Amino acid sequence: MAVDLNQVSNVEAQPGELPRTMAAWVIRPEREGEPLEAFQLEEIEVPEPGAFEVVVRVMAAGVNYNNVWAAQGKPVSVFPYGDHPEWGHHIGGSDASGIVWKVGPGVTRWAPGDEVVIHCNQASYEDPEVHGLDPLAAPSQLIWGYETTWGSFAQFTKVQAQQLLPRPQNLTWEEAASYGLVYFTAYRMLIDQCELKAGDTVLIWGAAGGLGVFAVQLCAAAGAECVGVVSSEEKGRLIMQLGAKAFINRNDYAGMMRRGGETPEQEKARFQESRRFAKAVKEILGEAPEIVFEHVGKATFPTSVFAAKPFGKVVICAGTTGYHLDFDVRHLWMRQKRIIGSHFANAYECMKANELIEQGKIRPVLWRTMGFEGVPEAHQLMKENKHLGKISILVGAPEQGLGKTAPGAGAIHAEVGA
Ligand SMILES: NC(=O)c1ccc[n+]([C@@H]2O[C@H](COP(=O)([O-])OP(=O)(O)OC[C@H]3O[C@@H](n4cnc5c(N)ncnc54)[C@H](OP(=O)(O)O)[C@@H]3O)[C@@H](O)[C@H]2O)c1
Repeated sequence: MAVDLNQVSNVEAQPGELPRTMAAWVIRPEREGEPLEAFQLEEIEVPEPGAFEVVVRVMAAGVNYNNVWAAQGKPVSVFPYGDHPEWGHHIGGSDASGIVWKVGPGVTRWAPGDEVVIHCNQASYEDPEVHGLDPLAAPSQLIWGYETTWGSFAQFTKVQAQQLLPRPQNLTWEEAASYGLVYFTAYRMLIDQCELKAGDTVLIWGAAGGLGVFAVQLCAAAGAECVGVVSSEEKGRLIMQLGAKAFINRNDYAGMMRRGGETPEQEKARFQESRRFAKAVKEILGEAPEIVFEHVGKATFPTSVFAAKPFGKVVICAGTTGYHLDFDVRHLWMRQKRIIGSHFANAYECMKANELIEQGKIRPVLWRTMGFEGVPEAHQLMKENKHLGKISILVGAPEQGLGKTAPGAGAIHAEVGA
């Protein structure tokens, strides 16, 4: 049956009851490829919540790079992971704001009607790591809406009760849906993994992207100084507004990017460019950066290791340009630098980070809000690096600007061409 896009914001079932089917953007193994084609609208049966699970009516969903990877089936297909073999489809979406609609057995903290945002870390409560170490260390750990199906690009989503956080009431539905995955990741990278403190100096790659806009704000809130790397003047202006000390346009240092397969002469020329870049960073910050915030990977990692201060840290959560990293290890050991891997955040970190949003100390940075029909286009724009900050999708919310019930700072609305 064809899905009527005009009806996506209407749900006739009352909280506590689920309709039989829902509209969902679905990726299937046979159509992995460009986001514009991989996502297709389908009518899917609404899942029932199991023990300690909750079904949430999605009011708005946030767009993340992970579903650019899921659409492409690269670097790996999502279909062998999580609950995909059971269902055979992928409903992506790892950020949402919404309303608790039905709770499963054992859920006591949440009830139908509660307004929530959702963090994307799942793990089995039976794994000992969840209780004594960190849920991110659990063998069952998965990212909801990427390594699992039943994500937020649908009228309803199924999550573990521990994923729910109170929705900041100072935000609209679309603002509240936009920040979780990237902000909570940046929070763990800087606050917990690197113990960011006042006076620290930080170099942030992709500073006007999803992770970057929050890394910049966290530095400003902590009293640390950061320089952000961007690829246009308008992105530079945005990060200055967010509290960066300065920005560097990476197009001025195109020669420093590691491409792979270089000749020794090309390696030498690249290193000269990395040295010139590191000098510029040092001049801005007054010293080499204590912390380098990495997610670009192959292209920038050799520069990151070189540019970090002696005894400094390179914290990394992704390898967008390639995940086989090579670099001159002498720059690491001789100067006793540390590389720290980091992945999303645990529920406690998400809760603490969410409080800063409620207090208006960290603000979502929303570039564009699209209707439900916008899911494929939003991911295509992200793949082509045409966005700033974040993109939100209206699902249950019939229009933008709804849901804000408390005063306080809302999102910063980033504008292209501003
Ligand atoms: N492990 C985790 O928990 C986790 C969590 C969140 C995200 N991630 C991953 O982290 C990566 C970034 O996510 P995001 O949401 O921040 O994406 P995003 O919104 O696309 O931002 C990434 C930024 O990286 C910069 N960039 C792209 N290509 C580059 C290149 N060749 N050299 C230097 N900079 C480049 C771009 O900025 P400029 O063009 O302005 O330089 C872009 O704004 C993705 O791979 C994502 O899957 C991982």
